[in-house]
Formats: sequence, C-alpha cells, structure tokens
Amino acid sequence: MAIAEKYNLKVIEDCAQSYLSIYKGRPAGTIGDVGCFSLNDFKHISAGDGGMCITKDPEIARQLAYYADKHYHRDGSGRDPEWLAANYRMSELVGAVAIAQLKKVRGICERRNKLGDMLTGLISDLPGIQPHRITPGGKSSYWFYMLRVNEQELGAARSEFVKAVRAEGIPCSEGYIARPVYCYDVLTKGQVFKNTRFPLDVPDVPPYGPGMCPTAEEVLATACRLSINEFYTDQDIKEMAAAIRKVAVYYASRSK
Ligand SMILES: Cc1ncc(COP(=O)(O)O)c(C=O)c1O
Repeated sequence: MAIAEKYNLKVIEDCAQSYLSIYKGRPAGTIGDVGCFSLNDFKHISAGDGGMCITKDPEIARQLAYYADKHYHRDGSGRDPEWLAANYRMSELVGAVAIAQLKKVRGICERRNKLGDMLTGLISDLPGIQPHRITPGGKSSYWFYMLRVNEQELGAARSEFVKAVRAEGIPCSEGYIARPVYCYDVLTKGQVFKNTRFPLDVPDVPPYGPGMCPTAEEVLATACRLSINEFYTDQDIKEMAAAIRKVAVYYASRSK
C-alpha cells in the first residue's frame, strides 16, 4: 500500500478464497482499494459461479457497477458510456443463492479456522515439518491446509513424504499450482491475446520469468497440500496428525 501511495496506484486484492481471514489485524479484502472474492463451485461458499467485489470508495463502486452491465446506467441516468465496460452480470437467481450463502460464511470459516489451528497444534513439534504458517495478528479460514517440508531435516524427499502420508489414507499432494502465474506462457511469451503482444508491448517492462518472486517459488517447491473443510470432525484432524507424525518420526529415526 505504501508503494501504491507513492506511485498513485490502486491496489486490487485477489482474495478469492480468503473469506474472513485476517492479515496483520485486518480482514482480507479491506486492505487494498478493492477486494475480490470468488463464488465459484469450490470455494468456502458458492453461488455455482461468479464473485463479489468490495470497496470503501463510492466512486470505485460506481465504476465497478458498470462492469456488471456493459456500462449501462441502471440508476436511471442514461446510457452514455464514459468508456467500454464488459458485461460481468450475475443473474438474479445466482445473486439470491450468493446472499443465502453469505449468511453461512462466518460459521464455515470459524469451523475451518478451529480445525486448521488444531492440526497445527498437533504437528508443530515434528522434525522437518513446518505447519501452515499464520503471520502474527493473522487468522486463516483454511481453504486447504498447507504445510512445508524441509527435506534435509525430514530425511526424505517431499515426494516420498507425500506418498507415505497418502499410504496412511490421508489425501495429500505436492505443491499447489505447477508454476507461479508470472511463469505461464501467456506472460513469458507475451501472448495475452493471440497474435499480438498487447498489452505487454510497452517499453521498459522487464521480462516475466523465474526468479521474480523467490519466496513464492520456494513455497511451491516445498509445500504439501492437505484438504480440510467444515464437515471434518475433530477425530478426522487427529487422524491426519497421527499419519503425519508417524511418517515424520519414521524418517527421523531412519536418518539417525
Ligand atoms: C487466488 C485465486 N484467484 C482467483 C481465482 C478465480 O476465481 P473465479 O473462478 O471465481 O474466477 C481462484 C480460483 O481458484 C483463485 O484461487
């Protein structure tokens, strides 16, 4: 936000699945100028598809509304576009589902938060295992649980660890997306639109590619993903922790 202020930029938070999560004491989506939440079919709450934007700025809210309807002025002030806006309209039916879902979001996030933190409490003493990290003053609504392994301390490769946890009956996978988004071909090859480099044809833009966000790259290379949701019982979490413990302790004893 300090950088944005310095260069007069707007900050849009992609907080697709950060419902009610807190970063340094502030709810995700309220830190930047606009917060964007997803309502697609695999998020904490869903309307089948679609999403929501929130903002404190009435002028941004006015402009955002235009994108829901081709820049038509649904406030009755006419149809004289200031610019071309897309048509990201949500149907009334989808909107009704979204409103009903919103009423459930607090309970869903509270339960996930309790389960995720419980898992952390049960595995935080294990060699080579770094539990899902919560920054000070933060709170997670655990869209999934992401721990990280230190292969050297653990005494096993991440792939081996994941295979062993799975063999204990606990769904677990390596990493998250295969590459950071800035390493996708559309950006590295400048093919946002077919057969043109637009909008990456501006001068002095450094090329996209590996190394731009080393921390994100390190997380992707060391993370393991476990599923969690509000329907899990405390017993489910204890069984997940027991499996992780069994595997970590086995490798630790083997490398002695
Ligand atoms: C961080 C993040 N942003 C955006 C999206 C896309 O959301 P939607 O499918 O609602 O466009 C996702 C979806 O998985 C996501 O994980």
